[in-house]
Amino acid sequence: MLIAQITDLHIQPKGDLAYGLVDTNQLLATAVAHLNRLRPQPDVVIATGDLVDNGTIAEYEMLRQLLAPLKAPLYLAMGNHDDRAAFRDVFGTLPYLPKSGVLHYVIEDYPLRLVVLDTLVAGASYGELDRDRLAWLEAQLEAGRDRPTMIFMHHPPFVTGLPGMDRLRCRGSEALAAIVCRHPQIQRIACGHLHRSIQTLWAGTLGSIAPSVAHQVALKLDPDISSAFVMEPPAFHLHLWNPDAGLITHTAYIGEFDAYSYKTKAPISLFADDHTPAPVA
Ligand SMILES: [Fe+2]
Repeated sequence: MLIAQITDLHIQPKGDLAYGLVDTNQLLATAVAHLNRLRPQPDVVIATGDLVDNGTIAEYEMLRQLLAPLKAPLYLAMGNHDDRAAFRDVFGTLPYLPKSGVLHYVIEDYPLRLVVLDTLVAGASYGELDRDRLAWLEAQLEAGRDRPTMIFMHHPPFVTGLPGMDRLRCRGSEALAAIVCRHPQIQRIACGHLHRSIQTLWAGTLGSIAPSVAHQVALKLDPDISSAFVMEPPAFHLHLWNPDAGLITHTAYIGEFDAYSYKTKAPISLFADDHTPAPVA
């Protein structure tokens, strides 16, 4: 089973740029075209929050338009830039979404069980799993103790060493850690929010953060330096579930980069069906 995790799309109303600088709409269009060219195709694509930048209906309509060409089944999660009501106005009829309240759900259709959490706190940049949300999670995990499971949530519950972002992580993490420790079927907690590829062991499982398909957060570990964004290559995580080997995660960069055959040294296109030499421009 192959899961493409895209995150932090920050879609704008048509024609607008994020921070007046980043064409996030074009970057998502490029990401969708890239995903559609993958061989094999992902079984699912999950977007782990910050789907849009300001939580407006116009932005969610733009998002729907940009995601329409995607071939693989798509699942959407909330981030701190999202708004549940505006999201539901545009996407509320999707069959996997609950009709009211927080947007938690479980996808049961695949060899790996996918639990998607909603860590959004309206008006806040940090996230939270409060008592009700944690109780929901624990009930779901109890109901699927024998099934390998992956958790998706926008705000990481673990520390990353990026001081500005660590202040905005998911609250309720101690109680979450206790639940995770009681459920060894959890293969991974896959997050967004940090706009970087990061991994750490946490609560007996691996915590991972996927890079953004748009701009990245600069790697600044000095607590005295203010945070910044950087136009490193957009990327996503490709999680490969192999029942014999476990869950393997690749960072996949979006775009077409110079590539060469080891055998002939000729330029090739990695997207070509048989990796035959690309036409030389
Ligand atoms: Fe973000």
